[in-house]
Amino acid sequence: MREAAGTALVVNFLLAGSETTAATMTWTLHLLAPHPEHARRALTEIQSVLGPRAPTVSDLLPLRFLRATIFEALRLYRRVWIFLRKATAPFTLGEHACPTGLHIMISPWLSHRNPAYFADPDEFRPERWLEAKEPAAFLPFGEGPRHCAGREFAVREATLILARILARARIELVKPNEVKPEPLVTLRPRSPVLARSIPIGQPTTQVQPDPMHAAFGAAH
Ligand code: HEM
Repeated sequence: MREAAGTALVVNFLLAGSETTAATMTWTLHLLAPHPEHARRALTEIQSVLGPRAPTVSDLLPLRFLRATIFEALRLYRRVWIFLRKATAPFTLGEHACPTGLHIMISPWLSHRNPAYFADPDEFRPERWLEAKEPAAFLPFGEGPRHCAGREFAVREATLILARILARARIELVKPNEVKPEPLVTLRPRSPVLARSIPIGQPTTQVQPDPMHAAFGAAH
């Protein structure tokens, strides 16, 4: 029994921790591609903090803009776009009396794009996270006793991966306006996100498109 519970825990961690982070990277690169000013700022930060070496966990603190970029991607394209709770006791929510057993759907897609909490909510503005505290409306990892167990690990992992990618290459989308989110159980790109990886220092025009194409974030 203890062995089965242990196996379930490991499987849970593997499932909950792999696709979520991969998708976060997809959406982050997808957002950075049409915003060269943010990509340049990220690269400047990486170069000044790391120089030519690879990042380690002790570099995370000064990689502030990178972390902010990941938060902003999590705000705009939160992987788990809706989650559920069941009331275990009666409570009042605003004007509504909620009985025991009520199913409640919480949509961070809506709260993350609510102008009451985020100015210009549809804009990709990583710098909003440099000073601001996380508002209660920001729920990329859920909330309460069942919130994501890998939260801090995920942000650290994503920051390190992003630092590695952006230190080497600039990402350009092949078809910038064609990526649409699909709200299944999790929020995925409807079709693969086709992108070019352009080595740092090389202008776009020198790129031979086909061999450089990379697809990430396929829908299924
Ligand atoms: C950016 C990446 C990630 C996102 C957006 C994410 C998001 C979430 C969300 C929304 C939940 C449900 C929380 C709730 O219902 O309140 C969850 C649960 C969970 N996550 Fe993550 N997660 C990520 C990465 C990870 C990683 C890397 C791990 C493990 C290494 C992990 C482990 C878990 C586990 C074990 C649960 C279940 C917690 C429970 O039921 O008590 N997650 N995650």
